[in-house]
Amino acid sequence: MKQLIEMQKLAFFIVALLAAVATSRCNAAAAIRMQLTHADAGGRGLAGRELMQRMALRSKARVARLLSSSATAPVSPGGCAGGVLGSSEYLVHLAIGTPPQPGQLTLDTGSDLIWTQCTPCLSCFDQALPCFNPSTSSTLALLPCSSTTCQDLQLTSCGTGNPKSWPNQTCVYTYSYGDKSVTTGLLDVEKFTFGAGASVGSSVAGVIFGCGIFYSGVFRSNETGIAGFGRGPSSLPSQLKAGNFSHCFTAVTGSKPSTVLLDLPADLYKDGRGAVQTTPLVQTLYYLSLKGITVGSTRLPVPESEFALRNGTTGGTIIDSGTAITSLPPRVYRLVRSAFAAQVKLPVVAAGNATGPYVCFTAPPRTKPDVPKLVLHLEGATLDLPRENYVFEVEDAGNSYLCLAMIEGGDMTTIGNFQQQNMHVLYDLQNNKLSFVPAQCDKL
Ligand SMILES: *[C@@H]1O[C@H](CO)[C@@H](O)[C@H](O)[C@H]1NC(C)=O
Ligand SMILES: *[C@@H]1O[C@H](CO)[C@@H](O)[C@H](O)[C@H]1NC(C)=O
Ligand SMILES: *[C@@H]1O[C@H](CO)[C@@H](O)[C@H](O)[C@H]1NC(C)=O
Ligand SMILES: *[C@@H]1O[C@H](CO)[C@@H](O)[C@H](O)[C@H]1NC(C)=O
Ligand SMILES: *[C@@H]1O[C@H](CO)[C@@H](O)[C@H](O)[C@H]1NC(C)=O
Repeated sequence: MKQLIEMQKLAFFIVALLAAVATSRCNAAAAIRMQLTHADAGGRGLAGRELMQRMALRSKARVARLLSSSATAPVSPGGCAGGVLGSSEYLVHLAIGTPPQPGQLTLDTGSDLIWTQCTPCLSCFDQALPCFNPSTSSTLALLPCSSTTCQDLQLTSCGTGNPKSWPNQTCVYTYSYGDKSVTTGLLDVEKFTFGAGASVGSSVAGVIFGCGIFYSGVFRSNETGIAGFGRGPSSLPSQLKAGNFSHCFTAVTGSKPSTVLLDLPADLYKDGRGAVQTTPLVQTLYYLSLKGITVGSTRLPVPESEFALRNGTTGGTIIDSGTAITSLPPRVYRLVRSAFAAQVKLPVVAAGNATGPYVCFTAPPRTKPDVPKLVLHLEGATLDLPRENYVFEVEDAGNSYLCLAMIEGGDMTTIGNFQQQNMHVLYDLQNNKLSFVPAQCDKL
């Protein structure tokens, strides 16, 4: 008899859950707007040079991680020792539960799971905001381990009630990233609220997310978790049944908030400042078909195969929200660097502390020297980078330098977010296409 009542409870619970999920689908029809801030924004007072050096270090760490994982494995947002150089770049501000509790999750197009740290925590990293407290939310439900989402995720198990942190028949998850950073907890179903300041805006019920109570590896101290924007079924765009999403990053050296939109209205997207360029998305992650690079008057002598994805795992070109600086395979990077140096007509600065991993040139103080154009030729689209998306100027010990904001990476070409500033980038998931148009991102 007791068992029957338990079964009925479970059945009731699943019906309630399905209802919640169904609601979320209806709610998701309208565009959802979220606010982003750059991970280095606010109060740290970093000089331009330091900021650029930190971004290069994070990009190198991120690339190493992308290469260490297979093409389909999730990609880490983690960081280097001490958490000072976490590789997270943009934080999505949102609120979870009823009443809403604020969270700031790293926007990661390289992984799928949505998760945030929860109380009571067995082992959590320091974060700027209080951990999410599931016991004070009236809309929280535990996900049963019989649910498809629980079964679809790679590392899940069924709670048995012992220990008490894992209630009977609930879905316990473990999610790991390319650098072996791991989060573990219970999968929950909750109402999420998106919008500026996470206090107003659209609410969506039935979002499945990880309530993380244990972690290992290194996460950045200002994130409370990660919002996976990848292509798998548990990512935020997939759960909200978004046909598309877009982001528009403001200048990384400024403090203006940026925007992410899910199911954005077509007219808003067309409002850019120039022609919309469209290129296909290939396979897993967000791979693009890069065909070539032009620096000034020189189309680099690089065969297309150099940029292509080989055997589904090596090489290839991805666009990544979690990488700051574009990195190129060594041979391609050296060709870009020498073509740029040959045309910029400024003396090259010897590599050292002032320049970090960048190639820099001595520039007359307070000038804006002409630089050769930099164009990425994608299948069907041309990414003609505006000046501020590939060069930066720094002052150091009374000297002025002009530097090329690209670095030498591994086998894979990674188009980072510095190159996407003031560009409205649309991921058309329905049609497997990526479009972009120059835009004033703070006016979106
Ligand atoms: C970290 O988060 C807090 C709370 O949202 C915010 O006030 C602070 O500016 C953030 N720090 C950085 C470096 O972004
Ligand atoms: C866990 O739930 C199952 C299925 O409802 C039940 O058979 C089992 O007795 C429960 N175990 C505990 C420890 O409550
Ligand atoms: C994005 O998707 C929504 C809903 O599917 C659609 O109405 C809108 O036109 C799309 N926007 C663009 C720019 O394709
Ligand atoms: C692709 O894989 C095949 C067989 O596994 C191997 O022989 C070949 O060398 C690989 N090619 C590249 C470019 O890695
Ligand atoms: C770089 O900085 C370190 C410590 O600040 C110093 O020891 C080293 O000599 C510097 N190297 C160059 C090339 O300036």
